[in-house]
Amino acid sequence: MVQTARFARFALGHFPTALEPMDNLTAHLRSRHPHVPRLWVKRDDCTGLATGGNKTRKLEFLVGEAIRQQADVLITQGATQSNHARQTAAAAARAGMECKLLLEQRQVRDEEYEFSGNVLLDDLLGAEIAERLPAGTDMQDRMEQLADTLRAQGKRPYVIPGGGSNPVGAVGYVECAVELESSPVAVDWVVHGTGSAGTQAGLVAGLQAMRSPTRVLGVSVRQEEQAQIDSVFGLAERTAKLIGADGAVGREHVLVDDRWVGGGYGVPTQEMIDAIRLVASLEGILLDPVYSGKGFAGLLGTIADGRFAASENVVFLHTGGSAGLFGYRGAFARS
Ligand SMILES: Cc1ncc(COP(=O)(O)O)c(C=O)c1O
Repeated sequence: MVQTARFARFALGHFPTALEPMDNLTAHLRSRHPHVPRLWVKRDDCTGLATGGNKTRKLEFLVGEAIRQQADVLITQGATQSNHARQTAAAAARAGMECKLLLEQRQVRDEEYEFSGNVLLDDLLGAEIAERLPAGTDMQDRMEQLADTLRAQGKRPYVIPGGGSNPVGAVGYVECAVELESSPVAVDWVVHGTGSAGTQAGLVAGLQAMRSPTRVLGVSVRQEEQAQIDSVFGLAERTAKLIGADGAVGREHVLVDDRWVGGGYGVPTQEMIDAIRLVASLEGILLDPVYSGKGFAGLLGTIADGRFAASENVVFLHTGGSAGLFGYRGAFARS
């Protein structure tokens, strides 16, 4: 088994997360398609940090490292409705640190997008929205500039990359791989929405380090397939090295499907809206408009392609994000 115990860590979440059957949905789809696998959901939307989500696992290790370095302020960045920003704000509150957020206006939207959903929660959680910056800004550079300013004021900032996606953060998903590998269900596939790449990189690094036969399919929410494979593979290699499994990951272990991005990052698609309504109405589970909604649309499309066997166990990794629904009310308006 892969050991993650030697890394600095700050407890933030509820683990292991549940692995639940999606029996209603499986039965519904089996009445329509010939090759429907048994569907499960891994409830990383219930990780327990300010409405939960995949950043809790990453932040346990990132904040652990920040504490080890005696930081007193966390800086991070994301899109306006970033779930990562909201969870970092919550983690900072728990760790007794300040939190400064840089939000990138990747698309100009309405009042609700700009101020409701995750943005409202950022404020309640005590974070400061230090800057709202136009799309295309070098956000990493702006975070470094802010860190320099804070250091000059005598503060000790710790900069967390967008999505918490570096090898330290990805160790959180190595742990998720260990949970999946230890579960009584023989998991054939894990499917999830992939963005800044840390979730898929950690899963792939962890599974390959354990020589697991479980395959991971990332449904891209922002860039085309080869670019996303490059991002995930590069980070998975570095994560594998960090956990002492150098060389375990091959490019062939990184599977990405970019057919569900639609008009781009955060731009609603009909497939996303249909997937959210379907899962909510049959399973009582809330997906999100930017990641898990498109991820689930990708799962449904892949089932329709006949890529899975009826005998297989397919796990949808629910990475959270339902707070973002409130920033997208207009997309769900019934005509
Ligand atoms: C709800 C949700 N799901 C999935 C992802 C994608 O995970 P990753 O950025 O690790 O690829 C994110 C990232 O921001 C997210 O907020």
